Amino acid sequence: MRPRLGVAYYPEQWPRGRWETDARLMAEAGLAVVRIGEFAWVELEPSAGTFDFGWLDDAIEILVANELAVMLGTPTAAPPAWLIEAHPEILPRRADGRVHPFGHRRHYCPNQPAMREASRRIVAALADRYGTDPRVESWQIDNELMGRCVCAVCRVRFQDWLRERYGSIEALNESWGTAFWSQRYDDFAQIPPPELGTAAATLFRTHAPNPSLALDFRRFTSDSHIAYLRLQVDELRSRGTAQPITTNLMGFKFGEIDYHRLAAELDVVAWDNYPALDRSGHWSGSALAADAMRGLKNKPVWIVEQQVGALGWEILHTPRRGQMRLHTYQAIAHGAELVGYFRWRTARHGTEQHWYGVIDAHGRVGRRYRELAELSKEIDALGDVLAEATVVSPAALLHDYDSRFALQVQPTNPSLAYEESAQRHYEALRTLGIGVDVISPDADLSSYRLVTAANLYVVDESVVASLRAYVEGGGTLVLAPRAGVKDRSNVVPELPFPTLLADLAGVEVADVASLLDDDPVRISGVDGAPDGEFRGWFEQIEPKGAHVLALYAEGDFAETPAVTIHSVGDGRVVYIAGVADLATLRNLYQAVAPDAGLVTAALPDGVECVQLRGQAPLLMFLNHADGERRVSLDGAKRDLITGVEHEQSIRLAPFGVALLAPVRAAVETA
Ligand code: GLA
Ligand code: ZN
Repeated sequence: MRPRLGVAYYPEQWPRGRWETDARLMAEAGLAVVRIGEFAWVELEPSAGTFDFGWLDDAIEILVANELAVMLGTPTAAPPAWLIEAHPEILPRRADGRVHPFGHRRHYCPNQPAMREASRRIVAALADRYGTDPRVESWQIDNELMGRCVCAVCRVRFQDWLRERYGSIEALNESWGTAFWSQRYDDFAQIPPPELGTAAATLFRTHAPNPSLALDFRRFTSDSHIAYLRLQVDELRSRGTAQPITTNLMGFKFGEIDYHRLAAELDVVAWDNYPALDRSGHWSGSALAADAMRGLKNKPVWIVEQQVGALGWEILHTPRRGQMRLHTYQAIAHGAELVGYFRWRTARHGTEQHWYGVIDAHGRVGRRYRELAELSKEIDALGDVLAEATVVSPAALLHDYDSRFALQVQPTNPSLAYEESAQRHYEALRTLGIGVDVISPDADLSSYRLVTAANLYVVDESVVASLRAYVEGGGTLVLAPRAGVKDRSNVVPELPFPTLLADLAGVEVADVASLLDDDPVRISGVDGAPDGEFRGWFEQIEPKGAHVLALYAEGDFAETPAVTIHSVGDGRVVYIAGVADLATLRNLYQAVAPDAGLVTAALPDGVECVQLRGQAPLLMFLNHADGERRVSLDGAKRDLITGVEHEQSIRLAPFGVALLAPVRAAVETA
C-alpha cells in the first residue's frame, strides 16, 4: 500500500463549529486518515448505559465528506467519573499500596469485573453502531495498554493463573524451589503478588522476591492486558465488526507486555513513535523501535502517533527543523504504511497543553502545517515507489520477553541492561549498513545470514534446537555474556554456563566478574581479529571446541579467551565473554561479516542507510546529523525525491533524506 499520512483528532475537545474547518485543512494538507474517539468515554456514554453517538456521527460525517478515512478508538483508557464513583475498586493498586486516582487516565485494573463489564458495554454499543459502517476504516482498542496492579482481584487472578500453569501446588513448589527461605506453599491462596521493584535498587533488599514468582507475575500482568484487549476484540467481532482491529503499542523500550503475544490478537501492529523522547539520542533508537514493531508480525505497520512538534508534559522536547520529515521517511523506510501525527491541534485544556500539534492552540495554520503539507505532496509524488518496497534484512536480533522480564527482576550488573545491550548490538550492525529484523527467538531464522542474541538470558530446549538447526544450516550466531543463565521458570539449570547453549558455543564459563566501576578492560585480537574493550561484566571461559578470536589483555582473566568462534555444521557461533562497547562490537561484526556472507558499508557518522527491495533495489539515506554529510555511491543513482542523478557521491543536507535507485531502474519506474 502507498504510504499515507494521518492525524489524531479529538473533536470532543473543540467547538462543533470548528470541525468543518479542521477537516478541510486536514484534507488540504494531504492527510488521509484521522483517528478519533479514544478517551471520549464520558462524551459517548454520559451515564451508565445511556449513549450519545450524535456528535460522533457528525464528526465522522464531516471527516468522510472531506475524503478522510476514519480510525475509531474505543475510549476505555479513560473511565468516566460515574464509573469510578460506582466502582472505586476499578482504580489500580500499585505495589506500594498507592491507588492510582481518578483525574489522569489509565486508572483502571484490567482484571476488575466492573471495568470489564463496563468496557464490554461501551464496546458493544460502538460495534453495533459502527462495526459495519463503511465510513469507519479501522479500530484502535484502548490506548497504550500498560500498568501493574496488585489489587485483591489481581491477587486471586494471579493465583488462578498459577494453578493453570502448574496444575498442583507441589509442582509449583518444586519449580520455584520454595525450600529456599522457607517459602513452601500449602495452597495457591497463600501466594502474594510480589514486590515489584528490582532487587538491585539497593545492594540488599529484604523484600527481593523469589525470582520465579516475580517472573510469573510479570507474565501474568502481561497476560492480563492481553486478555483485556481480547475481551474488546471478541466483543467487536462477535457483533460482526468487519474492519481491521489494532491497538497502539509503544516501541521497543517499553518492556511490560509481551508484544509478541499481544500482536497475535491484532490484525495489524500499530505503534506510537516519539524519537525526541528516546534517551539514547541516537538514530538507532527509533530505528530499533520501528524494526521491533515490524518484527511482531513481519508485516507493514501503522504509526498512529508520530511526533510533529514540541512535546512533553512538564518538560518540553523540541524536534529540530527537518526532523519531522526525516523521522517520517525513517518510519516509512522501516515498514510503516501509515504515519499518523500526534496531534492535530495543540490542546487548550488538560495535561497535554505542551504537546504541540500540527496547528497551534490558536487554530491558525503555521510552520508545522506547511511543512506537513509539503511533505505529503513529496511522498505523493513518489507514487508507488515506496508502496511495494520492503526492508532488506540479512541479519536478525532476537528479542525475547522472558529474558527481558527476568533481567528486570534481577539486573545483576547495569552493563547487562536488556534494552541498552540490544541497542548496542543493533547499532553496531546498522552503522555498518546491515539491515536487521528484530524477531522472537521462535521465529523462522533460515533467511538470515547472521543472528545475534544480545541477551538470551532465558532459554529452553526448543529455542536451542532452533538455533542449532539455523547454525548447522550455515548461519552465524552471535552470543553475548549471560546467555542461557535461566530456564523458563527463572531457575538456574544444573549445568555450567551457558548451560543449554554450551555445546553450540563450544565454551564453558569457568568464572565470572561483575565490576560496578566503569573502567574498561582491554582485550586483544588473535590472528588478525580486532582488539577491543569490555566493561562491567566479564566471564572467564574455557573453549570446548571453539577457537579463540581474542584474549583478555589485562585484569583477573588476563591471557584467557575473551571472544571465541565455534564451527558447527556449515555455520559458526561467536561467544563474546564480556559486555563489549559499541566500537568493539562494530569491529567484531566487521570481522565476522565475510564468513557470514555479509557486506558492510562505510557510512559517515549520523547517516542511516536502509536497503529496500521494490520494483528496483532502493537505498534510503537518512542524515540524522545537523551537519552536511557526503555519502559515496557504487554507481550512478537517481534521487527519486529530487529527480537529480548522482554519479559518485551524494551530499545530504542536515537532517536530509535521499531515496536512491539505480539510474536505469529509476527511469523505468518514473
Ligand atoms: C501517548 C498517548 C497519547 C498522548 C501522547 C503524549 O503516546 O498515546 O494519547 O498522551 O502519549 O503524551
Ligand atoms: Zn487489579
